[in-house]
This record gives sequence, structure tokens and C-alpha cells, in this order.
Amino acid sequence: MSEPHAGLAPDSLGRVLLDAARVCRAVRRGQALPEALKAHLGPGDEPSMRAAVQDLCYGTMRNRGRADALLGAFARRAPSPPLLGELLVVALTLLDEPGPSGCGARLRYAPFTVVDQAVAAAKACTELQRAPSFVNAVLRAFLRDPERARAAAPAARAVEMNYPSWWVARVRAAYPENWSAILATGQEAPPLTLRVNCRRSTVAAYLDRLVAAGLGGGQIGPDAVRLDHPVPVAAIPGFHEGIVSVQDEAAQRAAGLLGARAGERILDACAAPGGKTCHILERADVQMTALDVDALRLRRVAENLGRLGLRSTLVTGHAARPETWWDGVPFDRILADLPCTASGIVRRHPDIRWLRRATDIAGLSRQQQHILDGLWRVLAPGGKLLIVTCSIFPEEGHILARDFAGRHPDAAPQPSPGQLLPSSGPATDHDGLFFGSFDKIA
Ligand SMILES: C[S@@+](CC[C@H](N)C(=O)[O-])C[C@H]1O[C@@H](n2cnc3c(N)ncnc32)[C@H](O)[C@@H]1O
Repeated sequence: MSEPHAGLAPDSLGRVLLDAARVCRAVRRGQALPEALKAHLGPGDEPSMRAAVQDLCYGTMRNRGRADALLGAFARRAPSPPLLGELLVVALTLLDEPGPSGCGARLRYAPFTVVDQAVAAAKACTELQRAPSFVNAVLRAFLRDPERARAAAPAARAVEMNYPSWWVARVRAAYPENWSAILATGQEAPPLTLRVNCRRSTVAAYLDRLVAAGLGGGQIGPDAVRLDHPVPVAAIPGFHEGIVSVQDEAAQRAAGLLGARAGERILDACAAPGGKTCHILERADVQMTALDVDALRLRRVAENLGRLGLRSTLVTGHAARPETWWDGVPFDRILADLPCTASGIVRRHPDIRWLRRATDIAGLSRQQQHILDGLWRVLAPGGKLLIVTCSIFPEEGHILARDFAGRHPDAAPQPSPGQLLPSSGPATDHDGLFFGSFDKIA
């Protein structure tokens, strides 16, 4: 729900700054950015205003380590209340060009406008009534001394790269050769990649359709088309007709690796929102069971199935406890797209690095092992289990697969891509995902 902005014009930068500060404060308290945006922006807000707040919040998440360091260097005292700190952090993100703010062309303002509007935002907010002069002093001090600004932020590697230091240390330890490139890819704006529904079209026909709509794009996978420039979902040609879905290219590899054939019994064990469930069904007439522990999220699977004209049995249940939902008939193939840290998709979700704690990894990895052990019981002898995580941490990748195989002597490892690192370039563009494939010895 939209909060008060006394005296700020609905389309003003001050309003954008204040809303973005409120959203960023919610993320600092532990709320995921998409939920925080939903909670703080009302249906009555102008679409252009919502887009500007969203851009600024995403940019701030990519720049937060640096903006926090700048705030520490230019504020004479710790900002209080916390909302004041967030207002300064979002304003510093806008001022800190050429910092990697990723705010997009929509949010380019003259520095004096940013300062003026940040002060106006503070005046308009009851909680910040005593703060306008502090906002003015910090931002002007930053603008007066660009050299000091440049020297202040990159004092530490983690600050320079805009990740928590534990995150940088983990990636560096796991990938001593290319850790810095991996982290840099996570700072890029993500592409908009589509999956063409092969039941309703072909990649070639869809590329023609894009051209007719004045949009450019190219094929980057068997069913994958990357748009030259991202557009809102509502503007994607053929989306509502079920001709395409939004899905990263690496995520699109799961269906091919699972290799489901017509007539087989397939379990998608962590299915919501159904991206991979639908892809598998687009490619083969299988008997699909889509399972998820979260009944609300399972509704999104139903929506996607409906849009694409596909059918699946939907089951709410805990994948590690088949005795509560399984009918006793073994599955031929199981996809286990496990809950994880999501460390491989930070370019799409830049808030994740700030929300996670280093200690989450061990807990999630235990949960993953537990789910895999449960699922192994419902797989038919001769069947296939495909493990997927959208993580680059080895505990959720190679170590997870190695430990699983260690506990199950009847699990025969099959060729699979293993750890795909996030990568972008002219012909390739995908998130960081792990794939592990096992056949159950008959
Ligand atoms: C990575 S997401 C799955 C994405 C999905 N496969 C897709 O391609 O659209 C992980 C899902 O696992 C679900 N989940 C978490 N713990 C679970 C459990 N114990 N049993 C079943 N589902 C679980 C979450 O609710 C979440 O929807």
C-alpha cells in the first residue's frame, strides 16, 4: 500500500526517492525485494512512477556495498532513524555515476536535482522531519569532493564489488581462477530470455513475429530466444496466447536433460511456479505430477498451465515425506529443482546477496539432501533423477551430488553439465545453475 508523501508531486523524483528508501528499508529488515515493492507501491501509483521506484531499488541493491561505504565516509554521524540512511543510500546511488548502479537511462538527473529532491523527500516524511539539513549536508559533501568519494568506496574488495564479504570469500575459494568475473556477471542487468512453446510455434516463426512487432532478438538455445532489449511482460508478443514464456536459457536445459518420453510418469518435485513443469509438458505427452510444499505458489503453476494449454496433476506436499502424498506407483523420472540460496541468479535478484547469511548454506544443503533421499524412494528402478539448483556454491552443487551418491549405492551418475557458471555474451547468456543426473540401478 502506498504511504504518505505530503507535498510531493505524484511524478516527482522526491516521491521516487522516498518510496525507494522505504522499500530498501524493508529489504534491510529481511524482506525480499519483489515482496517489498508489492507491499509499498499501491495500485493507484502511476506505472511510470512504479517503474522508476523499481529501477532505483534494483540499482541500489547492485550498489549497496559502495553506497553504504560512501555514506560512512560523508556522514558525520550515523543516520537515524534507519529510513534516513536508506534515503541517503538511494540518493547516493543516483549521484554515484559511473558507479554500477544499473538504474537505467530512465533515472538520469542533474546532481543538484537529486539533492534538492532528496531534501524535499525528507521534508515530506513525518519520520524525517528533522533530517532535511542532514540530507543536504551529506549529499553536498559528496558532490564537493569527488576524489574523496572515489577513494572512500573501494577500500575493501567486497565493497568495491558490492557483495557481502563472506559471499566474495566463498566464491573466491570455490573458483580461484574466475571468481571476479563471476561476481561481475552478477552485477549485470539480466537479459529477457523467452522459451518458445514448441506445441504452438517455432523459434524461426517467433523471431519473424518479433521483427513484425519492431523488436529484435536472437536464438540462444534450442527453444530459447533472447530479446535485444527487455520489455515488460505485457508487451511480449504472444505471451498471453501461450506462445512464449519467460525463462532463463540455463533453466531451459532441465527439460532436455530429464529426457521425458510420451506416456511416462514424471514427478516435478519442487514445481512452483511451473517453468520447468510446463517446458517438459510442451515437449512430450507425459503424465505429470507437479508437487510443491507451498499451496499458494502452486496456484501459479495452475495459471501457467492454463495459459499454455497444458495439463498436470497438482499436489501440495513435502517432497521429503512421500508417505503423505504418494499413491505408491513409482515415477519414471523425477526433476528435483531444489530450494537453495539462489546464488546463481543474483543478476536477476540483486537483493539475494544481502538477504542471505553464510550460515544459510549448511541449512539449505541439509534440506536438499533430505528431499533427495525422500524422492529416491519414489523413483522406479531404471528411472532417472535430475537434480537442479540455481546456485554456484559447491555445497548446493558438486558436494550435494557427491554426498547423495555416497548414501545411495544404487545411484549411477549420468553425464550432465554439472556446474554452469553465470555467463553472458553474444551467443550465450544464462544464469548459474547446477545439474546432476542419476539413474537408479534396476
Ligand atoms: C527453485 S524453486 C522451483 C522453480 C520451478 N521448478 C520452476 O522451474 O519454475 C523451488 C520450489 O521448491 C519449493 N519447495 C521448497 N521446499 C519444498 C519441499 N520440501 N517439498 C516440495 N517443494 C518444496 C518451493 O516452494 C519453491 O516453489
